[in-house]
Amino acid sequence: MEALRQLLGVDIPVIQAPMAGVQDAELAAAISNAGGLGSLPCAMLDAVALEAELQRLARLTDKPFNVNFFCHEPPAVAARQAGQWLQCLSAYFHELDLEPPGESPVVSRQPFGDESLAVLERFKPAVASFHFGLPRPSHLDRLKSWGTTVLASATTVDEARWLADHGADAVIAQGLEAGGHRGSFLTEDMSTQTGTMALVPRVCAAVSIPVIAAGGIASPAGVAAVLTLGAAGVQIGTAFLLCPEAKTGALHRKALTSESANHTALTNVFTGRPARSIVNRLVRELGPMSSEATAFPSAAGPVALLRAAAEKKGRDDFTPLWSGQNTLGCRELPAAELLGILASQLPSRHAGTPPDQH
Ligand SMILES: Cc1cc2nc3c(=O)[nH]c(=O)nc-3n(C[C@H](O)[C@H](O)[C@H](O)COP(=O)(O)O)c2cc1C
Repeated sequence: MEALRQLLGVDIPVIQAPMAGVQDAELAAAISNAGGLGSLPCAMLDAVALEAELQRLARLTDKPFNVNFFCHEPPAVAARQAGQWLQCLSAYFHELDLEPPGESPVVSRQPFGDESLAVLERFKPAVASFHFGLPRPSHLDRLKSWGTTVLASATTVDEARWLADHGADAVIAQGLEAGGHRGSFLTEDMSTQTGTMALVPRVCAAVSIPVIAAGGIASPAGVAAVLTLGAAGVQIGTAFLLCPEAKTGALHRKALTSESANHTALTNVFTGRPARSIVNRLVRELGPMSSEATAFPSAAGPVALLRAAAEKKGRDDFTPLWSGQNTLGCRELPAAELLGILASQLPSRHAGTPPDQH
């Protein structure tokens, strides 16, 4: 745990999971200022927005923070596939009195590349984390040359080994309970995915870099449990979704606090990649996994139009209600307070250290 604290430059080895679409610099700063590691999700920011958000974050905190990016291959989606996906959704466009979009896919999430790297160079963030693999070696070398610590998600033992062998400084073991996208990058076979309790000890046995546990952790006891299994720290997302600093929409907040939160599924109908969401109308009617959904992230384009129209009518039928399986920790508390509760069973920084070494 101490090694991870030093690697991240934090007092509390709890990382607020980056959550694209539901948070910005405000949540990240609140967590970093409280001694944890706040994260800025950057996958949906172009270079101009990234620069603006990093300037804001740098104004809000002088503590270390994490910037998070995706490393997917941009897909080549044939017009025929895009047309089939639109056909699947056509009844919904009709129902909402909307004109279906053209068949060229709208790209909502760009992989990490030269432009983002150039912006980061001006800020030299303490930590950068990656979902769906790692950036190309030259980008990774540039990041590391500024002293940025590199984290990446693994959903299997093979992925953890690959990340350790390719330059990650620590690995985030993302159990199947986790909300949002699976970080998988070596396999599309979802039968390889295991829960946090089974994944963390196996990843710890397989790699010699620190392991950060993620997925279903939502209480002080949950944090203590994964540390007992060998994790050096934790990454927690879902529990922070109701914090006032998060930008979680009203319909999403309502779903998280309702009975619906007891039923989540891995679904590709929102973006084209398996991600955990509360089951709503779109997931029920077309999913959870649809062979018609076009490759990530292109499936998201038309669904976003349906979402916007339905939300105006107060309906969450097409809203990605990202959530982990364990929503018990979701509390409408300031993020710093919630972080304090989650970390309350962690040994204090100097516990067990002889006085002369303080
Ligand atoms: C709303 C939401 C959005 C997410 N977006 C991202 C993201 O942009 N980047 C990323 O690396 N992980 C993302 N994740 C996954 C988290 O990194 C993490 O694996 C997960 O939150 C841990 O499980 P938990 O939600 O049960 O705490 C997201 C999770 C949620 C709940």
